[in-house]
Amino acid sequence: MQGARFWEPGFEDPTGTVWPEELTVMRIYLDHNATTPIRPEVVEAMTTVLRDEFGNPSSVYAEGANARARVEVARAQVARLLGVEDADIRFTGGATEANNTVLFGSLTSGDHVVTTLVEHPSIVEPLAVLEARGVLVDRVAPDEHGGVSAVEMADAIRDRTRLVAMIWANNETGSIQPVEELAEICSERSVALHVDATQAIGKCPVDLGSIRVSSLSSSAHKLGGPKGVGALVCRNGLVLPPLLYGGGQEKGLRGGTENVASIVGYGVACELARTEGAAYAEAYGKLRDRLWHGIESKLEDVHWNGGPDRTLSNTLNVEFSGVAGEVLLQALDLEGIAVSAGAACHSGSIEPSQVLTAMGRSPDQARASLRFSIGWGVDEAQIDRVVALLSELVPRIRKVEAP
Ligand SMILES: Cc1ncc(COP(=O)(O)O)c(C=O)c1O
Repeated sequence: MQGARFWEPGFEDPTGTVWPEELTVMRIYLDHNATTPIRPEVVEAMTTVLRDEFGNPSSVYAEGANARARVEVARAQVARLLGVEDADIRFTGGATEANNTVLFGSLTSGDHVVTTLVEHPSIVEPLAVLEARGVLVDRVAPDEHGGVSAVEMADAIRDRTRLVAMIWANNETGSIQPVEELAEICSERSVALHVDATQAIGKCPVDLGSIRVSSLSSSAHKLGGPKGVGALVCRNGLVLPPLLYGGGQEKGLRGGTENVASIVGYGVACELARTEGAAYAEAYGKLRDRLWHGIESKLEDVHWNGGPDRTLSNTLNVEFSGVAGEVLLQALDLEGIAVSAGAACHSGSIEPSQVLTAMGRSPDQARASLRFSIGWGVDEAQIDRVVALLSELVPRIRKVEAP
């Protein structure tokens, strides 16, 4: 059916396939750490730019000046949310690009870097490449709750340490790391600290006014903005070589005409996060706790990976013992519920989550785990439906999978 949305009967996907009716049930989206629905205010602002304001920010006539002004307003909105100067913000094509820019720009053969075992693949994989090129990497393990000790990170710093790189809040478990404490230590030891704050921004306070990190990555699509745009914060005059040469945009850090509409959308998303973030974080915490209490009261042999302390209020990672996470994920999908097994980027792979195994969970326990992440548009009725479905599906799958 032309114009049907993907939860409506007759939806035809871009390949021309009409989805079977059982997939077109009303959806409950609990995977906000993978990506978030774009906020209507963001769509509106982006639509104005896409439809009416096509200028190139580098052009010196009126259309260009208008586009430049749009980009600079967005820069100020992002900077204000993060507590930095406008001049510290460099727009990128997302957090993966921002992380790669810092790692490849800071480290060469013989340098030493301290990081953790609970990083996102956009830190893990560039570091593996750099390690093969002669960079020395120390990876500090988390405790059973997913927390990494700032003191252990500090103990790993050596004379040749060029960089410390740490995730602010983990995408799989929501564990929040002691960034403030580590920033103090790195500042005293004069070592640069890079923080991947992609999951933290908009969900927990990220105010760099009082926290001395050297660089920080962020991404718009995790907080109601569009995909493919993010920002790298570069502080204290930090100058890095670009990944993409040509044009000299973003103070020479990222060549290429700016993605004006997406940058504008990111600015609006940041403004919404600044004014509403704390209230939403509290509301999500209540929904997340309702989900956990529901699961815990209806099902046996469930374990909250990471637990409630120092965890993003929207994130719940649960092990359903004896259940293959992928099977439960698909059963929930057929009932209209979207959740994640491990990180989104790992979906489709049967490798157990490296984050959960680093926290001491066995490969089988990691494979039996699902991540529920709450966000804009989720309500109590949806949570109650998810609990009701889990209490039917989990025992059924356990019976089938029992040896
Ligand atoms: C912690 C973290 N860092 C980086 C990224 C990558 O962000 P982007 O999709 O903007 O490249 C993600 C996205 O899943 C993330 O959760």
